[in-house]
Amino acid sequence: MDAEEAHHFTFNSLKALFSVPGLARVWGGRSAAFAAPVECMGLRFRNPVGLAAGFDKDAELGDIWADLGFGFVEFGTVTPRPQPGNPKPRLFRLIEDEAIINRMGFNNQGAEALARKIDRMHRRDLIVGVNIGKNKDTSLEQAPADYRVCMEMLHDQGDYFVVNVSSPNTPGLRQLQDKDKLTEILDAVQGVNQSRPTSKPLLLKIAPDLTHTQLEEAADAAIAAQFNGIIATNTTITRIGLLTAAERVSAIGAGGLSGAPLTQMAESVLAHLKGYVGDKLTLIGVGGIDSGETAVARKHAGAALVQLYSGYVYQGPGLVREVVKAWKKDFVQ
Ligand SMILES: Cc1cc2nc3c(=O)[nH]c(=O)nc-3n(C[C@H](O)[C@H](O)[C@H](O)COP(=O)(O)O)c2cc1C
Repeated sequence: MDAEEAHHFTFNSLKALFSVPGLARVWGGRSAAFAAPVECMGLRFRNPVGLAAGFDKDAELGDIWADLGFGFVEFGTVTPRPQPGNPKPRLFRLIEDEAIINRMGFNNQGAEALARKIDRMHRRDLIVGVNIGKNKDTSLEQAPADYRVCMEMLHDQGDYFVVNVSSPNTPGLRQLQDKDKLTEILDAVQGVNQSRPTSKPLLLKIAPDLTHTQLEEAADAAIAAQFNGIIATNTTITRIGLLTAAERVSAIGAGGLSGAPLTQMAESVLAHLKGYVGDKLTLIGVGGIDSGETAVARKHAGAALVQLYSGYVYQGPGLVREVVKAWKKDFVQ
């Protein structure tokens, strides 16, 4: 099956299964086994395991993520207006590497539709993050306005917000990680946030391909704009150390690589950031987390919370339980 079709198949199966009365209870996703509370950024997470952005861009599964045991879910990346994303095929599995290459390009139903979907959720035991971006046809100069519009339309719905300037699949987007452009976007987002009666935690999501200097500049910009944290990392544009045949990799073409080949890279970016920012920012670790062990290693590198994407695809829904268990065990030791 084509990788994107397989994604939709799994998705629809989970949706159908978890609408069967009683099944959620049998799976135990809301049970005490999944309790490992973490407090950060003024929020209380039932456990530190989140679903990373891009898996459920339009909040189609909603509260089911709590039934599956997640402590938090990040919807999006959402753009102000709906857009179809890049032509298919745009999602590829590298099975030998337990990796994925994608060039989805922010296919999503737009900010208004997402707000409506989140409004319909119960949100018991589930922190909801909203990851925001710009439309493909918005120029880089106009980008701050797109981020501002997303914030305005979704501020009431999200428990926290993420500025995504690190996806490789929207032309030019990653240039927005440069100091001056970044500051303009972060200030625009914070401006909306602080104009509301309750301000929400804000985070910046970065690429793993930044140099140490670029990482430090991004962290400085986040601190200056009074952001609460950084999510490290998005997918990489590198193709290093893959087992998959080089011809197949080059035939796949452009896109972001995620999964096991990203584990060390994402961990060292997070460790570097932790060394630089100390306790000034909350760090969320994502990238190649595929076991209790890799999650706990990310915690030791400085992550307060972790997110799963490719690992969840390859290891299946049991990975959430495994990570929660390992996290709790590490806490006790
Ligand atoms: C198919 C696919 C779509 C993604 N879409 C988004 C997205 O819309 N926004 C975003 O911030 N990250 C997106 N990501 C990146 C993930 O959230 C995550 O940062 C990255 O995959 C690394 O984690 P992993 O190695 O556990 O997959 C996407 C990843 C994949 C594989």
